[in-house]
Amino acid sequence: MRIPLNLLLSLLPFTTAAPNAPASNPNTRATWPDGPFTTSGRYILNASNQNLTYAGTNWPGHADVMIPEGLQYQSISSIVDKVKSLGMNAVRLTYAIQMIDEIYDNGGVDISIETAFVQALGQSEGERVLGMVLERNPELTKETTRLEVFDKVVEELGSQEVYVHLDNHISKGMWCCSTDDGNSWWGDRDFDTGRWVRGLGYMAEHGKAWPALVSMGLRNEPREPPSNPSKSTYNWASWHDFMQQGANAVNSANPDVLIFLSGLNFDTFLTPVVQGTALTPGSNTFKPDEFAPGFANKLVLELHNYENSATSCDTLSGNLDRNGFEALDEGKQGVANVMPVMMTEFGFEMDESTWQGVYASCLTEYLPARKAGWTIWVLAGSYYIRSGTWDYEESWGLLSHDWSGWRSEAYVEGALKEMVRRTLS
Ligand SMILES: *[C@@H]1O[C@H](CO)[C@@H](O)[C@H](O)[C@H]1NC(C)=O
Ligand SMILES: *[C@@H]1O[C@H](CO)[C@@H](O)[C@H](O)[C@H]1NC(C)=O
Repeated sequence: MRIPLNLLLSLLPFTTAAPNAPASNPNTRATWPDGPFTTSGRYILNASNQNLTYAGTNWPGHADVMIPEGLQYQSISSIVDKVKSLGMNAVRLTYAIQMIDEIYDNGGVDISIETAFVQALGQSEGERVLGMVLERNPELTKETTRLEVFDKVVEELGSQEVYVHLDNHISKGMWCCSTDDGNSWWGDRDFDTGRWVRGLGYMAEHGKAWPALVSMGLRNEPREPPSNPSKSTYNWASWHDFMQQGANAVNSANPDVLIFLSGLNFDTFLTPVVQGTALTPGSNTFKPDEFAPGFANKLVLELHNYENSATSCDTLSGNLDRNGFEALDEGKQGVANVMPVMMTEFGFEMDESTWQGVYASCLTEYLPARKAGWTIWVLAGSYYIRSGTWDYEESWGLLSHDWSGWRSEAYVEGALKEMVRRTLS
């Protein structure tokens, strides 16, 4: 995530889409999660051909330690209990490509969580935090690897029937995102395209052992790099090329996951993809069934929004439609590609009143009304380390610093639970 910016002005009306979910066969009793999921027009369908969407939250595992956050304060199962208590059905779990690079560098075996904590936090703080993690999560040992922690997190999410969407958030494990963090665009300092392709394929393959894994995001928030060499490819034509490479890597390893595509400028817009206009500087246009073989029914669009200073919900809604949510509108003029669209990040200060402001209350209304899936940024009440600060306080976190309760009970009870309920009903 990053904070605000990007205010495009436009106000467009939206229409409702035609229903198209076929009935399931009552004689077969599918088991959760009932994958592989497919897409049909604006809908995601499970294997029983019933439409569904996500209402969930982001659980970061991509930062310096590259272990899902919060385990020094709570057990994996109690964190998943919290997600579940909101009625949520999905988690966007983030990881860094650096983790996979280190697995390759280490002869195919991931490093231990002890090594990871010490590398990221230093010897004494690393050992101290590791001790807290082991105390709260006795099924882990200091030899457990990072990837085995991901396994346990995903297993618990699955046992509580929470869908897992795995997101490649960044290449180098650290807080994301800015234009000058070296991870902005393919070819940027720490964003090697070959390693990215390899990492996606590795996680897709590994994820075959995760029943809860239903979808993967290829890359979080593509953005303009500050300088060459990669700046010259910051355009839609190259975006299409890179996304095809990533999608093929995932699909050839694991054809059972949906693939999420994010847009330019920190994933704030996908307009040419939705409207079918030229992917500049070329003249090629986006067509799901020509994207790459086998992709017509497995692509989902994802957008982020941090227009936190919005003063008009009509303006914000119009921006969202134009930035890509109009792909939900079958038959709308100008919409060439009808596809599922989700808001995989939005968020704000978890205090007593921000949730009642224009931005938050608008999204609380807009997303369920559109039956668009979403994952709010962020579950984490704190991070092991962020931008050099140990035990960083996350004031946007749904959870309190020690992940024991809600940071804003007022928001959870006053809006969030109802937003989940409306989205999933
Ligand atoms: C499922 O489809 C029906 C129409 O067939 C629609 O009313 C409902 O909102 C859809 N639900 C989701 C979660 O997309
Ligand atoms: C398939 O999706 C429908 C609609 O969301 C849901 O009610 C049903 O439980 C799902 N099937 C399984 C087996 O999870």
